[in-house]
Amino acid sequence: MKFFIDTADLEEIEEANNLGVLDGVTTNPSLCAKIGVADFEGHIAKICDMVEGDVSAEVVSTVYDDIMPEARNLAAIADNVVVKVPLIKDGIKAIKALSDEGIRTNCTLCFSATQALIAAKAGATYISPFIGRLDDISEDGMQLIADVVQIYDNYGFETEVLAASIRHPMHVLESARMGADVATMPLKVIDQLLHHPLTDSGLERFLADWDKLQEEIKTPA
Ligand code: E4P
Repeated sequence: MKFFIDTADLEEIEEANNLGVLDGVTTNPSLCAKIGVADFEGHIAKICDMVEGDVSAEVVSTVYDDIMPEARNLAAIADNVVVKVPLIKDGIKAIKALSDEGIRTNCTLCFSATQALIAAKAGATYISPFIGRLDDISEDGMQLIADVVQIYDNYGFETEVLAASIRHPMHVLESARMGADVATMPLKVIDQLLHHPLTDSGLERFLADWDKLQEEIKTPA
């Protein structure tokens, strides 16, 4: 399973990248607004320089004729840019055309398996089913991941399932169990994945016992 960080914050990307397990980055307009990105293309270029893996940059146009030049412009920033396109009619049309041009896409704002099926048929590189936002409205986000993985397996679609809108480690664990190709998550969730209180207390005990042994060696009875 690939791990992407879901942020536009350069410090967070650097911190996750330094861990050595980061495979890519996803951004969206809200994440850019959160940190006040002024030069969007320049900011994406910086992220692309920092990481080796794929970096999703989202278009804000919603009409086919506008999505296409915006997407081409984003794709030209760096080889590892993946253009994020919303799952609307014009977006699907654009994904098909971009795919024919060899431009990789991440089809975003997916909330149903039928949407995911259409995105795969259009040739999306990634599909982003939003788990947390479905859970937020009392629907089953994890079931969507299971359905999409199964449908893609049934027909051999190459579109990768990118579990998005992840809120906590269980979303990552369940996505991994179900065979999602990628999980994109905030830095906080990456940190949560590796922490366990028994590791902390176990280490504390090992180190205390070691210190005690050193004292005993220094001052034999
Ligand atoms: C990533 O590609 C998505 O834009 C992101 O995971 C959405 O997360 P949110 O539902 O927490 O805003």
